Amino acid sequence: MQLIIANNYEDMSKKASKLLISRIKDTIPLNLGLATGSTPVGLYKELVTEYANGNLDFEHTRTFNLDEYIGLSPYNPNSYSYYMWKHFFSHINIRKENIHIPPGIFANEQKVIDDYEEAIVQAGGIDLQVLGIGANGHIGFNEPGESLSVSTHIVELKSETIKANSRFFENKDEVPKKAITMGMGKIMEAKEILLLASGKEKAKALAQTVKGIVETHCPSTILQIHPNVKIIADKEASFLIADRIRASNNCILFSSDRMEQYG
Ligand code: GLP
Repeated sequence: MQLIIANNYEDMSKKASKLLISRIKDTIPLNLGLATGSTPVGLYKELVTEYANGNLDFEHTRTFNLDEYIGLSPYNPNSYSYYMWKHFFSHINIRKENIHIPPGIFANEQKVIDDYEEAIVQAGGIDLQVLGIGANGHIGFNEPGESLSVSTHIVELKSETIKANSRFFENKDEVPKKAITMGMGKIMEAKEILLLASGKEKAKALAQTVKGIVETHCPSTILQIHPNVKIIADKEASFLIADRIRASNNCILFSSDRMEQYG
């Protein structure tokens, strides 16, 4: 696991965009797994600016979003589909047929799940998966619990997740109680993972992700056993692990019991 400490949210977004820009330029076609929430907004802004300046081409990029709220249509401003078009897709030259977001409204649950899984397989798997993290360690909408799922599935959201995400809704009661999410298994199949964390509310989950016991009650801890994970976290999100950081350039390799200077 490689942990990169950014000075603040803007710095985190810039550092993340540099990685994505290099992958978008170098890997053709690129299968990009995407996340929502407040954390990657700055990253999308950077990428849109880069595109507007003529430095990026999304012609050969395919995207696969992590999740969606059950019951919300793409026209609902709180849906993740709406979010993605608002912050990213409307501003770049991505082909509509290359965008994949699990639907929040559907008739046949199993078909939706099978189709989403199949679309990822047909594309050849995800090259780079961008992740945020919930304060309880959830990834996508893979909530803490007795077990984790491999594939796309429907989940009941935890009360703490509903509370945390209610800031985007008029009130807490409007937050859907269920979501559809890519499973931890599929996320772990991505060739490369970039996890972003910003703000002190994420500090505990981030510390557990990096040095906690790998367990289903904190889904992000499973990332420890992925061979190619980069975490870009701002100072606030990383303050609980700051004592473990000794590299002067703020860039380290971090494994559960061992640290090495990086770069
Ligand atoms: C939601 C999303 C996650 C995201 C998390 C954190 O629950 N399903 O993918 O990582 O929120 O969001 P934020 O970045 O707003 O803190």
